[in-house]
Order: sequence, then C-alpha cells, then structure tokens
Amino acid sequence: MKIGIIGSGHVGLVTGACFAHLGHEVICVDQDSRKIALLKKGKPPIYEPGLREMIQTHLRERRLSFTSEIATAVRRSEILFVCVGTPPKDNGEADLTAVENVSREIARTMTSYRLVVDKSTVPVETGEWVRRTIEANRRRRVDFDVASNPEFLREGSAIRDFLYPDRVVIGVASKRAEKTLKDLYRPLTAPILVTDIKSAELIKHASNSFLAAKISFINMIARMCEAVGADVERVAEGIGLDKRIGRSFLNAGIGFGGFCFPKDLGAFIRIGERLGVDVTLLRSVLEINDTQKKAFVEKIRKQMWNLKGKTIGILGLAFKPDTDDMRFAPSLDVVRALLAEGVSLRLYDPQAMGEARRILKKGTFVRSPYEAARGADALAVLTEWQEFIEIDFKRIRKLMHRPILFDGRNMYDPERLKKLGFQYYAIGR
Ligand code: UGA
Repeated sequence: MKIGIIGSGHVGLVTGACFAHLGHEVICVDQDSRKIALLKKGKPPIYEPGLREMIQTHLRERRLSFTSEIATAVRRSEILFVCVGTPPKDNGEADLTAVENVSREIARTMTSYRLVVDKSTVPVETGEWVRRTIEANRRRRVDFDVASNPEFLREGSAIRDFLYPDRVVIGVASKRAEKTLKDLYRPLTAPILVTDIKSAELIKHASNSFLAAKISFINMIARMCEAVGADVERVAEGIGLDKRIGRSFLNAGIGFGGFCFPKDLGAFIRIGERLGVDVTLLRSVLEINDTQKKAFVEKIRKQMWNLKGKTIGILGLAFKPDTDDMRFAPSLDVVRALLAEGVSLRLYDPQAMGEARRILKKGTFVRSPYEAARGADALAVLTEWQEFIEIDFKRIRKLMHRPILFDGRNMYDPERLKKLGFQYYAIGR
C-alpha cells in the first residue's frame, strides 16, 4: 500500500520505517526541511535503537522517502497517518493547531479517496473535528474516511513495540476504513480491536493514565515501606504475582517523566473537567509523581546535612534508559533542586549529554560514571541504564571522597553495596 506519514517525529519515523519494513511504500513528511535533509541521508534526528539502520535499509531499497511538501505525500498516498505533535498548552490542554492545519492541507490537496488516520495523541472527539475540517475544506466532493489508530510505542523499544504489539486499536466509522487498516496490520499477528473513533481516542489516554497510576501507586507504597522498614521490591513482587495486577510498571523510583505520561495526564484531566467528570484520581497520580522527586532530594539532604559546597555525581539524565530524550525528565527536577542548594554536580548520561548540556547549562559534564564519582561526596543514580548495572563499584569507591550512593531507580542489591563499603539509600527499601 502507499502510505503517507505526516509529522516525522519519534512516532512518525518509527511508524514510517516499520511500515516500509512490512513492504509498503512510505513517504514521510515534516515541515522542518533541515530535518528532512538529514533524513534523506539516513540520519534520524533522534536516538531510537535500530531506527537508523532501518531507515537506511529502506531508503536504499526505495521503499521509504522523505519530503517537506505535505502535498507530495497526499498526492502519492491513499492512507495518510497524522503523527504531528500535540504539545501541552499552559492550562494542560493539548494544542491541536498542527492537527487542524494538516487536516486542512490534506483536504485542499486530495483529488480522490483518502483515509486519514490519526496517530497523534489527541483528546476524544478530535476525529470528529478532523472530519468536519476536511469536509469544509475539500475542493470537490472527494470521498474520504477518518480513523483513529493510537500508538503504544515506548521510547527505547519503539520498533519492537510496533512490530510485536500487545494489540492494535483501530477506531473507524466505515467498513472501507476498517478493511484497509485490518489489511495493513494483519502481518503483525496481534489482536486487532475495532472500535468507534471516540472509544479508540479514549483508549490511548486511558492506557497512559492507567500505567502512570500504577507507578504513582507503587511510589506511594514505597513511602509506606520506608516508614516501617519494609522492602517495596518484595511488595511489588507480591502484588504483581496476582495476574489481575501484574508486575510491570510497579517499579518504584523518582517518578515518571518523558513527553507522554505527564502531558497526557494533564490533557486527560482537562478533558474530564470539560466533560464534568470527577478526575481527582488522575490529579493524585500527578501529585504523587511531583512529590516523589522532592522526597528524593530530601533523602539526600537528610544524609548529607548541608548541601551547599558538596559535590554529587549524577548517573543518568534521560527520562528513561535507551533514549536521549530529556523532556520532562525527573532528573531535571532533582538536578535543578540540587543546583539551587549550591551543590557542585558532575553529570553523566550515556546518550543525553548534548540535550542535558543545552537545557541545564550548569554543572560539570563528564565522560564516564567514574569521572562523575571522582572526588564526589555522594553519587545519585537517576536513570537505570544497563551500563550502570555493570559498574565496577570497587573502582568507584576509591574515586569518591565519601562512598554514599542514592539509588533513585532501585538498581542494586543493597547487601552487595553495603559489603562493598557504601552507605546505600534506595527507594522504599
Ligand atoms: C509511554 C507508554 O508506555 C507507551 O505505551 C506510549 O505509547 C507512550 O508513553 C506514548 O504515549 O507515546 P514512554 O513514555 O516512552 O511510553 O516510556 P515508559 O517506558 O512508559 O516510561 C515512562 C516513565 O515512567 C519513565 O520516566 C519511566 O522511568 C517511568 N517508569 C516506568 C517508572 O518510574 N516505573 C515503572 O515501573 C515504569
């Protein structure tokens, strides 16, 4: 099939590359012509494991191409996936300007049937607005369908998530759209759930909110564990073995971040308010997440007395491992709070150094975990990179001024670290 992807951000690029991988002819659009120039050379502007190789292969085999002209993609492709950004406005609501602009552009350019599929995370009822916008702007009475096909890709494992999903959700209003999308996803062998458009839109926000709620729930339990001397890892295991609950997304830590959970929860809260639904539950999820980061800084202060003038090595800045994404990273809150207290920071991340330097501007950026530890009064782990599991702690201990370790991601065995001579503080254990 001929597919146009409008918006070549993380979701758009992964979707485009994976559809090309499944044998389709894909053209990806972005208004940023510098980004398109890089992509034409096979250089994605983001780090996502496997993406660069996939793009290069399909560019070479001419299944994948890039353009900054949306009209080119609309002319060439029968199916158009809208993957543009829906950033938060000041009041938390999603800004849908890009979705509206793209809908209008599609309407003005299309000369025969097009299936317009929304993949961007949008509030419920956006599909209806897209339909109205296209209807009002199409040149002749060109036929079209609108559909919703939410993505459930995690940064860092997005290609695997695309090719081996738990489910594919398609929200449609016509048999023709249903058949096209079912045919498109059939090779994935995942269950395909067909719903109306509004239900599909709600599934996306509800899924992210539920996962975020699991994280805040376990972080609340972690505080109880700390208060009584229990171990949150054992508690998570104990409740997670119940198949109705499940163990995943019950990892206590310094909270969730990234461009999805915080923004989607904020937007979902606004939707609930608009619909007159009580969303106290969702507000609590955000509130626990916020105080979780503050509690971590307090934990550091409690063990180190005055923070001013102390040196702390920071391991991990990206909002999660296997990405260079720093947007809404919990590390930013922790690092900023420590800098505000007059702490000297030695910062290290395997991928996100460039981004971190650009955002933070302060602190000493170093090239390895060992450099971060050199002369430090304490070390704080903020992202659970595999590289940090393999650290030589004997070497780290020798490099540090004082061997204190704050583990914000419960990465290590407390007994082992204590045996190695560390004062070890984790979350909820
Ligand atoms: C999330 C969802 O998992 C995807 O299904 C969804 O498609 C995506 O948002 C999106 O809406 O585009 P992502 O933000 O890439 O994906 O990352 P996650 O792996 O879900 O992690 C989010 C945050 O939660 C990270 O900061 C992570 O450290 C934190 N987290 C996750 C925990 O603190 N504990 C856990 O047990 C799991």
